[in-house]
Amino acid sequence: MLLRFAASASLCALAAAGCGTQARQRHAGTPEDPWIIGMSQCNLGEPWRVQMDADVRRAAAEFANLRVIFKDAQNESLTQRAQVEEFVEQGVDLIVISPKEAAPLTRPVAEAYQQGIPVIVLDRAVQGDQYTTFIGADNVLIGRAAGKWIRETFGGSGKIVELKGLMTSTPGQDRNRGFLLGLELERNPGLEIVFTAEMQWLEPNARREMESALATNRDIDVVYAHNDPGAHGAWLAARAAGREQGVLFVGIDALPHEGQQYVRQGILDATFLYPTGGDKAIEVALKILRGEEVPKHIVLGTRLFTPENVDRGGEPIELETEGERP
Ligand code: FRU
Repeated sequence: MLLRFAASASLCALAAAGCGTQARQRHAGTPEDPWIIGMSQCNLGEPWRVQMDADVRRAAAEFANLRVIFKDAQNESLTQRAQVEEFVEQGVDLIVISPKEAAPLTRPVAEAYQQGIPVIVLDRAVQGDQYTTFIGADNVLIGRAAGKWIRETFGGSGKIVELKGLMTSTPGQDRNRGFLLGLELERNPGLEIVFTAEMQWLEPNARREMESALATNRDIDVVYAHNDPGAHGAWLAARAAGREQGVLFVGIDALPHEGQQYVRQGILDATFLYPTGGDKAIEVALKILRGEEVPKHIVLGTRLFTPENVDRGGEPIELETEGERP
């Protein structure tokens, strides 16, 4: 109901002459007068985000009645806020945002939504519920699966390094929370997190933090990094120190040309798929623009890739019903 209202309200917002039938027809989404989607990407410096934009572009290209305007916020929340405001001023039909951080992007997203522009929040969340729908994988589940994999691989004892993503973004928080749940530290006192640092999703930071971890810890059994660039940065540091052989490396993202390749090359021992959701965003955007209702929260699946299963396309991780949900 609310979604229908939001969609038609956005049509109204676009029509200078008001919200009559004419206005609706003018914005019915035709090849001559396509729906305009504004897509704000928090940065294009990371391969996963380049892939997300490519997925959006490919999916949108199937529809002649759709046009996407892409903006790159270059990893600045203030820039991203301005981009959302610009999209509102331009009167786009729908906004897709993959926000850098939750808190600073909450208000601009809410304001766009309250003005009747449907907003799809992709991958990283904002606070509250003032947006049309959220699409993303379950990062608590992924973190739990990583913790469980490490617990089982090491038979309940081992020294762990955790390299966290940006902790003002929801995937960083959820991948950490899930990981601790999956390790079950209280039942496995032999498992110990000996070093943690926030590498903010960036490979050079992860490499630097891992150098510190190696300098201060003689024994490290496994590195859990919140993304594959982080795991790769840690591996580079370990290799430079001649210590990569005795350490397992676990990451998240599993892009075919990045994480899955690292698994094939023997650099990573496990990585979990984090789908970009770019194609799903276009599918859902079309439903919203056509006035159909969509769920408030759309959860994408994940898969585990290891050297044993990577050539078979990995294995699905079952969505669990018990435990905490993001
Ligand atoms: C890219 C990225 C991915 C990660 C995702 C989390 O910016 O760091 O590597 O999985 O963001 O939002």
